[in-house]
Amino acid sequence: MTDDARRIEGNGPWPHTMRLQRFLARAGVASRRGSENLMTAGRVSVNGVVACELGTKIDVDRDVVEVDGMRVSWPAEAVYLMLHKPSGYLTTMSDPQGRPTVAELVPCDRYPGLFPVGRLDMDTTGLLLFTTDGDLGQALLHPSRHVEKTYLALVDGSMSDRELEPLRKGIVLDDGPCQPARCSLLETVPPDAGCSFKRVRGTSLVEIDIHEGRKNQVKRMLGAVHHPVLELHRPAFGPLRLNGLASGSWRELERAELDALRECSCTVKKQATENNR
Ligand code: URA
Repeated sequence: MTDDARRIEGNGPWPHTMRLQRFLARAGVASRRGSENLMTAGRVSVNGVVACELGTKIDVDRDVVEVDGMRVSWPAEAVYLMLHKPSGYLTTMSDPQGRPTVAELVPCDRYPGLFPVGRLDMDTTGLLLFTTDGDLGQALLHPSRHVEKTYLALVDGSMSDRELEPLRKGIVLDDGPCQPARCSLLETVPPDAGCSFKRVRGTSLVEIDIHEGRKNQVKRMLGAVHHPVLELHRPAFGPLRLNGLASGSWRELERAELDALRECSCTVKKQATENNR
């Protein structure tokens, strides 16, 4: 199982069981902190019993939650958004060491329960999907076959097309063989890629598509063919493209993008089932 899939699993079944303050925030009653205040003030009840304990967990499908005697319902709509991640942010919703995280760049207060689907290294830029929909997140990061991701890598050294052959065949890294990757040498950064690599003499530009999500995978793949990555950017995640979204900005997915993503997650699931037969 990949790190990403394990991380989502770690959140437990979604959204059936969760902390009461998270439920209240997700239902739009108040922010997480505001919901905690409501609880400690004794204004929240679960199945008719006042719930002041901040660790209280509820079953979203069964328990009756009330604030000041008014029933609170689970919101029907999940949220899907993309962030153009800049360099210098960790892909996590909180960091015990207090380093900058992507949580600072997306509207977590408005959409409690938002989490990143997969991860980009701190120095990697590009498209990062966020959602409150654990099922879709899990489907897109299915351990046996992730959705396709496109990366642009600025690498050290003048590379020839022949040097990409081991990656096309499926290179073996220290944690096992990689699936064959589609890759090509580019002359210039595509205009809609959303990055501005500074190409200097003695560097090359590689576009690489992978389906897996192993730690530092692209950097390790290119390092293994003796062209260390200097800069890495992800212009596309499955059917999604940054399409002019400024670095550090986010936007909600459009209906057509969400449909395409759902379609692609079904294909991913189906392929995974067939591969496991
Ligand atoms: N591969 C890497 O090496 N780093 C990333 O951030 C994403 C893929």
